[in-house]
Amino acid sequence: MAKRRPVTIALPLTTPRLSVREFARSDLPLLRAFSDDPRVREFAPIESRAIAAAERADQPQRGARRSWELAVIVRRTGKLVGACDLALGAPGEADIGYMLAPRHWGHGYATELATALVAFGLGQLALKRVSAIVAIENDRSRRVLEKAGLQWEGLLRRHVRAGGRSWDCHRYAIDRAGWARVLRPAAPSPIIRGVKER
Ligand SMILES: CC(C)(COP(=O)(O)OP(=O)(O)OC[C@H]1O[C@@H](n2cnc3c(N)ncnc32)[C@H](O)[C@@H]1OP(=O)(O)O)[C@@H](O)C(=O)NCCC(=O)NCCS
Repeated sequence: MAKRRPVTIALPLTTPRLSVREFARSDLPLLRAFSDDPRVREFAPIESRAIAAAERADQPQRGARRSWELAVIVRRTGKLVGACDLALGAPGEADIGYMLAPRHWGHGYATELATALVAFGLGQLALKRVSAIVAIENDRSRRVLEKAGLQWEGLLRRHVRAGGRSWDCHRYAIDRAGWARVLRPAAPSPIIRGVKER
């Protein structure tokens, strides 16, 4: 079988307001506190992956890394406000996920984060496709994915088993062509341009 090329990435990733870095063990108390909030746990199995990553933060990486569970920091305050992840899947593809402490919801941070994860996957990692799985009830997260340029691809019945039940989910994804459209929205048609130029 062909050996997988190890993937290395340059951290931190920065967005206008956020910084995304590796977890440290010192993040655990805060991470556990907001992961325990029922609003965070309602739809998302991501919190257990983030806690596991923070718990093994001091340990050396064994084998080629296939997933990055990362801490989300507000640059202005230096405070940990959430977690995100990117996991490599089929060749050229990755899944992304994110969560924020509820007191930081509604400021557009998740949209900024999802946009950065897409750019990271399709740009720095040169992947072909980035996708996300979202519980069908999670309208807030669907809105975030749509604003980051991902498009709805289909419904996955009973796709995730978490919290003692099976969840129906939507799959969203973006490929390189879709990303190019996000970065460079379609130029106005010559007719419209002609009207504007007059
Ligand atoms: C999903 C999550 C990260 C979103 O965080 P956020 O800070 O609210 O995200 P943003 O502010 O970037 O954007 C939220 C958008 O959803 C919209 N929204 C908020 N509540 C909504 C609702 N009930 N239905 C539909 N849209 C909603 C907001 O208006 C906003 O869109 P707008 O900018 O067009 O107004 C946060 O709710 C969270 O951590 N949830 C728990 C974990 C989780 O579900 N993770 C996702 C797993 S796929």
